[in-house]
Amino acid sequence: MSEDANGRRGFLQVVAGLSAAAVGALAAIPGVGVIIDPLLRRRKSAGGFLPIGDASQLSDDGPVSLPVIGELVDAWTRAPEVQLGTVWLQKGEGDEVKAMTAECPHLGCKIGYDGEQDHFYCPCHKSSFGLDGSVNDGPSPRAMDPLEARVRDGVIEVRFKRFRTQGEEPVEIG
Ligand code: FES
Repeated sequence: MSEDANGRRGFLQVVAGLSAAAVGALAAIPGVGVIIDPLLRRRKSAGGFLPIGDASQLSDDGPVSLPVIGELVDAWTRAPEVQLGTVWLQKGEGDEVKAMTAECPHLGCKIGYDGEQDHFYCPCHKSSFGLDGSVNDGPSPRAMDPLEARVRDGVIEVRFKRFRTQGEEPVEIG
């Protein structure tokens, strides 16, 4: 083999090695890794139970709302502590706690609680909901969306999820 051919082969091997190293380095950069692997884009904290407060915050007098704080990861940023949403909580039997997201199934406004009427109420288009989340009145196409919740060692934990607005059935979106 000629000296020229050996030189070309060596040069190509070096270029191939550098290309592989460059792809590996890019994949390690947040954001670029998502382009290479879209599965990296996910809200990491949404998969498990998140601690949201002390069980002593629950009341016998009515529902209590608490913010859900967790980590939000998207293509370009990682925010360790952002408000992912708000949940309404009610005491159940014993240690049981019932949770519903405060996001209205109609168009996503924040549902409040009307203590005088003793029902949940969405101020945007006047949907109202019973304490069990069922629709009493207004345009909401379905009941308030329930969430898994539990009390562990005196701490309220919620498996937070978001749901698509509209539609008669809840469809999880993250
Ligand atoms: S967003 Fe709640 S009733 Fe429309």
